[in-house]
Amino acid sequence: MKKETVSKIWRAAFVIALLIVGAEGAVLRERVSFNSDWRFRKGDPPGAEGVLSYARIKEWVLATGNEFTRDPTKRRERPSGNLGEEVAYTRPDFDDRDWQPVELPHDWGIEGPFKQEYPGESGKLPWWGVGWYRKHFTVPRSSDGRRFLLEIDGAMAYALVWLNGRFVGGWPYGYASFALDLTPYIEPGRENVLAIRLDNPPESSRWYPGGGIYRNVWLVETGPVHVAHWGTYVTTPEVSPTSATVNVEVTVANASPAPAAVTIRTRIHQLGADGRPLPATVAVAQPVEISVASGANGSAVAQAKIRAPKLWSIENPNLYVAVTTVIANGRPVDEYETRFGVRTIRFDAQQGFLLNGKRVKIQGVCNHHDLGPLGTALNVRALERQLELLKEMGANAIRTSHNPPAPELLDLCDRMGFLVMDEAFDCWRRGKKENDYHLLFDDWHEKDWRAQLRRDRNHPSIILWSIGNEILEQNSPEGIQIATELVRIAHEEDPTRPVTAACNFTEAGYNGFQKIVDVFGYNYKPMEYGKFRRANPNIPLVASETASTVSSRGEYFFPVSDDKSKGFFNFQVSSYDLYAPPWATTPDTEFAAQDQYPFVAGEFVWTGFDYLGEPTPYGGDSTTMLAFTDAELRARAERELRERGKISVPSRSSYFGIIDLCGFPKDRFYLYQARWRPDLPMVHILPHWNWPERIGQNVPVHVYTSGDEVELFLNGRSLGRRKKGPGQYRLRWDDVVYEPGSLRAVAYKNGRKWAETTVRTTGPAARVSLNPDRVRIRADRKDLAFITVRITDRDGLTVPRTHNLIRFHIDGPGEIVAVANGDATSHMPFKANEMRAFNGLCLVIVRSTGRAGTIRVRAQAEGLAEAATVITATP
Ligand code: GAL
Repeated sequence: MKKETVSKIWRAAFVIALLIVGAEGAVLRERVSFNSDWRFRKGDPPGAEGVLSYARIKEWVLATGNEFTRDPTKRRERPSGNLGEEVAYTRPDFDDRDWQPVELPHDWGIEGPFKQEYPGESGKLPWWGVGWYRKHFTVPRSSDGRRFLLEIDGAMAYALVWLNGRFVGGWPYGYASFALDLTPYIEPGRENVLAIRLDNPPESSRWYPGGGIYRNVWLVETGPVHVAHWGTYVTTPEVSPTSATVNVEVTVANASPAPAAVTIRTRIHQLGADGRPLPATVAVAQPVEISVASGANGSAVAQAKIRAPKLWSIENPNLYVAVTTVIANGRPVDEYETRFGVRTIRFDAQQGFLLNGKRVKIQGVCNHHDLGPLGTALNVRALERQLELLKEMGANAIRTSHNPPAPELLDLCDRMGFLVMDEAFDCWRRGKKENDYHLLFDDWHEKDWRAQLRRDRNHPSIILWSIGNEILEQNSPEGIQIATELVRIAHEEDPTRPVTAACNFTEAGYNGFQKIVDVFGYNYKPMEYGKFRRANPNIPLVASETASTVSSRGEYFFPVSDDKSKGFFNFQVSSYDLYAPPWATTPDTEFAAQDQYPFVAGEFVWTGFDYLGEPTPYGGDSTTMLAFTDAELRARAERELRERGKISVPSRSSYFGIIDLCGFPKDRFYLYQARWRPDLPMVHILPHWNWPERIGQNVPVHVYTSGDEVELFLNGRSLGRRKKGPGQYRLRWDDVVYEPGSLRAVAYKNGRKWAETTVRTTGPAARVSLNPDRVRIRADRKDLAFITVRITDRDGLTVPRTHNLIRFHIDGPGEIVAVANGDATSHMPFKANEMRAFNGLCLVIVRSTGRAGTIRVRAQAEGLAEAATVITATP
């Protein structure tokens, strides 16, 4: 195939992601986005409901996982015949013209509507049910003899795929990435029709899982002799300042009718800022020769040495690319790029975690996969923004709770310098929900786990594999047996990284379970660290999940109580950062334990961002809520429970985030920043200072600073200078009597002035203001501008406690993809041109429509001066 024909070939493809052209101009490998021009419909065709339910057809799907089943006797053969022929939507001639046109990634639940009767635990959004996607495309006649692989990075859930009416394969776990060989079914030179059925069972998730093909889809074209899917594994067994040994294991697949004698050449480049290899070759591996039988795979290891390697680290995330060329009969037949990094990692029972030989405290957060108002539909800029905000706070690590993440998250972590705990499961054989992964565990855990390990093992950011979160078997012999198997699989697929499990049962630290993993993970057990170490002197320990402090941005309730079960009112949670459910703690409690026991490798806070679903303390079953809410609400709830058998809770998203659903920091962002960025001069005051109804009454003031001492002034009068004592992470003035005016905090470090901030009583709301995170975006239909909308007084100060309705207008080549305000109880749709401010703020997310030009956004609210902003979409 010649280069010039390429753009014609991929009529249907939107972006050419990777095009590898050999020395003679022949295209060796192409990987194109397959996200455009899909058609979508909810539900099965009439009469076919349930015909394709997993329980009935699973024998068909299991065969897809054979590549990841090590024991050949456990591999499945597909039944004969063709699955699903009788279902109209699988057929190529089915007329789908009236289906909804969609572009992937797509989350069918996020547009709502929110419904009060839907479970708050999974976001009060309609994510469940069956959905079908169809796509028409062509490949040219000249591609006869080429191989075509469909890569699906994630489809929620129970995916089944047909091409031209013939069943290709499927994959049930909604968080897994998988690939299907389309070659036997594709018809070059004619129209081809892909049909994908998803089935998302209700009661299958403890959070909002989203629904649909919510990650990227790719079409990969290669020759018959090619590097297999996820076919490289790069390790760096020896690393010193002067040299690094790089082993590149390459698996070559031979789909040709004859045996293939191939030479594998690998050269190494640095990765440039544009994501492409820099021209200079920094190392070349000795060529290796292997012979691969027809229809088989063969592997070989090529070794190279990089002199004076640039190490990957949090501060300098240097990356390399191994470019592997497969040569058969003297001609290149494939070329494959693998990004990797050179670094050493080690967990140590005494020293915690060491990166490149230096101790690094893990300052991590757990996150779910949704992107707030954008739902679960993957967007790279939205993820990048999350990581930028977390970096700003001083976080250096991410736990992909509780499932394999989008591959793009790992790419970003590699590039931005985040450590990653890559997690597989939220349950094993014993489920947490009626229809969750426990139904798949026996048949699929090996396939899912090996697939995840093979997909992810070249990412330098990954420092830990996690076999599961709060697994119910953790205190049983069965759990020890399953853990042993999962750890063994991880060591087989990747002997270079330790394996952990996030355990919430105290016993798991003593009953033998702790000895199965390489690094033991405790969730919410700061009181246990000392005892664990005495009982297990040689097992490294990480706080795999911590805090779970809850709060609503900008809400403060009085009187302020230090009792962690207080602070709840009107389905909101006070933002004094003192409140947490029974199993959880304040950030301060965890800090104190980590300081007392420095051998703990660090922590992963629950959570970095608020997420859809799990609105604890107002979620779950009604009794949980009754256990820790305010008296007034409890009385109402008890009455509802008596009269109607259930409680009407509006909450649909979490209160756990350090950052709210829009990406606006809550107060505790600054508590973490004060600890995690000790060299950044900063000081933060809470609450806001607009309390007209509390004049003469007590309003406690808390101050977070990276300094060690603060003097607080109210209207110029000193309220005293206070110093942090041992185990103290915030400074408090609990006896302040409110008067309007200004509250100024001057922070000191080692006796010298360090930082200063002032909070003022504002005037009444006077105008709207718009502040985009970036004024230039790429005109690629993907890039986003996040515009912060504020209600301000005449002087531009954000007015707290304002909830004005704001209407947005947009013109130019841009569209509003979502609006949100961070209020966990709001049922206003995310897909709209209006939103109510929540405590002074809301968010508009704008995407380019694909054309370059000027996008103008205006915001209007009744009685306030309007605002406008301009974003330029550039080619
Ligand atoms: C943990 C669990 C998380 C989340 C959290 C809320 O026990 O692992 O998934 O539910 O509690 O505090």
